[in-house]
Amino acid sequence: MSAERAPGFVPVIAIDGPSASGKGTVASLVARQLGFHYLDSGALYRLTALAAERQGVSWHDEMALAALAERLSVRFEANAVWLDERQVDDVLRSENMGAGASCVAQYPAVRAALLARQRAFRRAPGLVADGRDMASVVFPDASLKVFLTASPEIRAERRYKQLMEKGMDVKIDNLLVELTRQMAERDARDAARAVAPLVREPTAELLDTSAMTIQMAVDWVLARWKHLQQV
Ligand code: CDP
Repeated sequence: MSAERAPGFVPVIAIDGPSASGKGTVASLVARQLGFHYLDSGALYRLTALAAERQGVSWHDEMALAALAERLSVRFEANAVWLDERQVDDVLRSENMGAGASCVAQYPAVRAALLARQRAFRRAPGLVADGRDMASVVFPDASLKVFLTASPEIRAERRYKQLMEKGMDVKIDNLLVELTRQMAERDARDAARAVAPLVREPTAELLDTSAMTIQMAVDWVLARWKHLQQV
């Protein structure tokens, strides 16, 4: 009997990809559709960066960051994230915390400290997890692995629209140009780091959503999942 058919096996759908590729939205909708749990692993790196900022720990102090990551007091609710009993959603999604997350995520001790926390999200009936290393490191036995991407221009536009909708940072001149620059910088740092870099895991299926709506991408993942259930 394959491990996947063994009693108690909890399936994982791993969705990795670069910033603003739409992976978070797609992953959470797929999870909802299947009645699976959902892990936004990037939020844990963002929370580590935020906790560090609040406690005066440098984003480059690997050991202090790892200690912080180990004992983060976080609570995820359907539409809210809490750090030390304070709701932090808006600040967590800011571009500054995205940059902070990418900074702290370079450090092996930080990644190690967050590993068990991420794996604890794997509960029946299943998990959809999104991030950079879900398929390669955190859930190498995932049943379905998807590398979801889109062109840099489309990703910058999507992030721009997201920020406009939230009413954030809209007064900055040349915001789109600035977002494109920041995104390229973050992609380069994520792809170049020594541990768990942003790369497509060899067995992950590539999904380029440049010309797709969110619903088309969700339907694509669900169709792949359904197909796997039948083989
Ligand atoms: O939504 P977006 O892709 O912009 O960001 P995110 O998924 O919240 O991730 C923020 C940063 O955390 C990324 O730029 C990565 O450097 C880091 N990260 C990581 O290293 N590994 C993960 N599994 C998830 C995020």
